[in-house]
Amino acid sequence: MLISYHGHAVVKIETNGKTLLIDPFITGNSLTDLKVDEVKPDYILLTHGHADHIGDTVQLARENNALVIATPEIATFLGWQGVENCHGMNIGGSYEFEFGKVKMTQAFHSTGYEIGNKEIIYLGMPAGLLITIEGKTIYHAGDTSLFGDMKLIGDRHPIDLAFLPIGDNFTMGPEDAAYAAELLGAKTVVPIHYNTFPVIKQDPQKFVDMLPEGKGIVLNPGDSIEF
Ligand code: NI
Ligand code: MN
Repeated sequence: MLISYHGHAVVKIETNGKTLLIDPFITGNSLTDLKVDEVKPDYILLTHGHADHIGDTVQLARENNALVIATPEIATFLGWQGVENCHGMNIGGSYEFEFGKVKMTQAFHSTGYEIGNKEIIYLGMPAGLLITIEGKTIYHAGDTSLFGDMKLIGDRHPIDLAFLPIGDNFTMGPEDAAYAAELLGAKTVVPIHYNTFPVIKQDPQKFVDMLPEGKGIVLNPGDSIEF
């Protein structure tokens, strides 16, 4: 399995000939190395409905006939835009897909999508994702604050690799994310959701330096981890 980071909250997992893409914000993401017409996802997994996470989902799902895994509200919203192939899930629920298992976890954040005319469509609860593939568990926290039940998530699901937001302003900052890493008990931690916009500018190495030695890894866009 090959797991790669592509700027902001974009994570790609390649397993058994299938490509999973999490929060595919490509157009408008100044940090990403991906191109919408080059990446060919079989599955798209979404943490929540903000534009910097839904990103290019509609185009990618349509062009690749990808299955979109998201909350029911987002699945319905995408259905209105011609994305028929959606699997709705909700917090606390898990489902066994062909590639492996996905469990949706809580996240403390908001969700809504601006559709113009000063209208915001509410898109349900934000989530985190626990993905178990080839015997390894990967946690993508989505956008969230620090919360105490990260301990519960870590106790119930030994985490091999965690992607945690460190940008601050919209999510946890580096100090809270370092505490989150401890609560989760994740073996390896990769910082995400920073430097895309001026208000979330951070030094990811400083975050890694707050973690026990060898636990944190900074992945630049395009870098990957082989599991
Ligand atoms: Ni968000
Ligand atoms: Mn975000």
